[in-house]
Amino acid sequence: MNASLAPYPMVLTVNTVEDWARRYVESQDLAHKLDPGGPPREWAEQPEVLRLTGPGRPAELDVQARSQRSLRPSQLLDPRRRAQLIHTFLHHELQAAELMCWALLAFPETDRSFRRGLLGICLDEIRHMQMYRAYLIERGFEYGSFPVRDWFWERTSTCANALEFVSLMGMGLEGGNLDHAARYGKAFATAGDEEAAELQRVVASEEIPHVRFATKWFREWSGGLDFDRWADSLVGPLTPALFRGRELDLASRREAGFTDEFLARLAESR
Ligand SMILES: [Fe+2]
Ligand SMILES: [Fe+2]
Repeated sequence: MNASLAPYPMVLTVNTVEDWARRYVESQDLAHKLDPGGPPREWAEQPEVLRLTGPGRPAELDVQARSQRSLRPSQLLDPRRRAQLIHTFLHHELQAAELMCWALLAFPETDRSFRRGLLGICLDEIRHMQMYRAYLIERGFEYGSFPVRDWFWERTSTCANALEFVSLMGMGLEGGNLDHAARYGKAFATAGDEEAAELQRVVASEEIPHVRFATKWFREWSGGLDFDRWADSLVGPLTPALFRGRELDLASRREAGFTDEFLARLAESR
């Protein structure tokens, strides 16, 4: 690519995984966000700590500072509202993909196997974006048809270390999503949208290993899966109750590595 035409002013050449990750976060090109191509095989020999402060946002996306009210399941009888919800999920996937790259760059002191895991999850999230986008396109919508909010970024990019990152992103946001996906999957099915219901089932099953990745590293770094230690590792004003559905999807959560003791504490957190 001619450097003068490159839409990525910060990284002009991509030789390493770290370059690829940085370009992905900083890109303002929607096509690149949806399909950045495969990462290089090479990793930087001596990567430095790089804490990116925010993502590049394509002009097509209407990023708002405040979120709209979340949709009630009864509203999902309206196909436009279903598309809007899938659009919200798509934007969650983008933020997750970007934040995996963010962590890979912010915590170069971690094991390579941890950072390799982040990269693999990032690629899963990009695939999930593509699945959600295909649903939207089939129904006459596009990525950008509805406003979005960068809530995951606002919180996650304040994590000081990798333990805080897996606590918030993997065990918190992705863990909570196991509950939400089960609920929304049922709501889509009730609304007669079997395709959206199936999308939720597929994505939810593929999110279980992401959460398991987080619980595995949390144990490794903190010596166990202690609920209070997890609660203490959540940044800012965030509390455990934010990261659960009304009902816990116990089967998925157990498969993701949570213990019954941990889940009992989570279930009673308000
Ligand atoms: Fe995902
Ligand atoms: Fe995920």
